[in-house]
Amino acid sequence: MPSVPAPGPGRSVSVIATGSYLPDRVLSNADLEKMVETSDEWIVSRTGIRERRIALPGQATSDLGLEASRRALAQAGIAAEEVEMIIVATITPDMFFPSTACLIQHALGAKNAFCFDMEAACSGYLYAIEIAHRFVASGTVNTALVVAAEKMSSIVDWKDRSTCVLFGDGAGAAVLRSRPGERGILSSVLGADGSLSHLLSLPGGGSRHPPTLQTISDGLHTLKMAGREVFKHAVNTMSSAATEALRRAGLTVADVACMIPHQANQRIISAIAGKLGVPDANCFVNIDKCGNMSAASLAVGLDQAVRTGRIRKKDIVLMVVFGGGFTWGATVIEW
Ligand SMILES: CC(C)(COP(=O)(O)OP(=O)(O)OC[C@H]1O[C@@H](n2cnc3c(N)ncnc32)[C@H](O)[C@@H]1OP(=O)(O)O)[C@@H](O)C(=O)NCCC(=O)NCCS
Repeated sequence: MPSVPAPGPGRSVSVIATGSYLPDRVLSNADLEKMVETSDEWIVSRTGIRERRIALPGQATSDLGLEASRRALAQAGIAAEEVEMIIVATITPDMFFPSTACLIQHALGAKNAFCFDMEAACSGYLYAIEIAHRFVASGTVNTALVVAAEKMSSIVDWKDRSTCVLFGDGAGAAVLRSRPGERGILSSVLGADGSLSHLLSLPGGGSRHPPTLQTISDGLHTLKMAGREVFKHAVNTMSSAATEALRRAGLTVADVACMIPHQANQRIISAIAGKLGVPDANCFVNIDKCGNMSAASLAVGLDQAVRTGRIRKKDIVLMVVFGGGFTWGATVIEW
């Protein structure tokens, strides 16, 4: 399995604080029944989703990420000026450029940070965590802020029932630092397979199909997904990535206190948990309330798991993800 090398010499790196933000507006399955030909029964039985949050028209991805970042910094008890690096994982940036990370930097007042966006679709949060991990481990920076923020409602085709019922908006953030006496991030596995990029994409608006009246009327600016194909790959790839990440950390599934899988479909989550042998009680789920928030799903999930006491000091946390590209990742942390 392609992956980053095992950790070399360097400092251990911990996620010292998390934060998340969900927009106030709730879109229920009953609301969707009025928009497309679907039913609460179909959505719940096929996906596990009951409701999702939708940003207000004036709210952009950076607004969601900003609030999550403020909460993470408050939790860490550090000032914005102490942040030296901001990475934003997103497929729904406010605009092509400047980066959403620069917009958040300015709004936060994190004037000592260098900033960039990172795109690995749903896997973006774990990719960004691993990049930040390496910068902090090497001593290049002391404090990194990783944000995963998505306004999926801005790229969903609201006439396509096979995708519009699945996604939601939200943001999560994490502060990374080295903390003496803590092991923190123990292992990561990252991978990609671009040969399957056509199965999940947003084809329009970029240099391949720049925006024209034709591309817009052809609907190229909305998300396209071959759901059944993605489903098959997601289960197998996430299971093997999780197994490999645990092996590299010298651990087994029995050591895992909390697994946070990507929240794309309750059936995928159950299949992975079953394959790995993770008991339901140790598997974090928020898909019923949030839907699939792409990169933000794991970031919000980690924060919610910490705040609700599902993760305690010294617990082994396993996060695993799969998304467009295809891309995937798994990360093991001693909390
Ligand atoms: C998208 C997904 C929920 C669809 O579930 P599925 O069981 O595969 O359903 P199918 O696509 O095979 O469709 C089955 C039927 O339901 C219909 N259907 C699709 N969406 C529907 C909806 N919202 N309401 C009612 N019926 C719907 C289809 O038209 C199809 O009807 P047909 O049999 O008459 O053609 C599922 O494939 C999935 O979760 N895929 C993976 C998504 C994922 O992992 N993404 C990760 C990266 S973001």
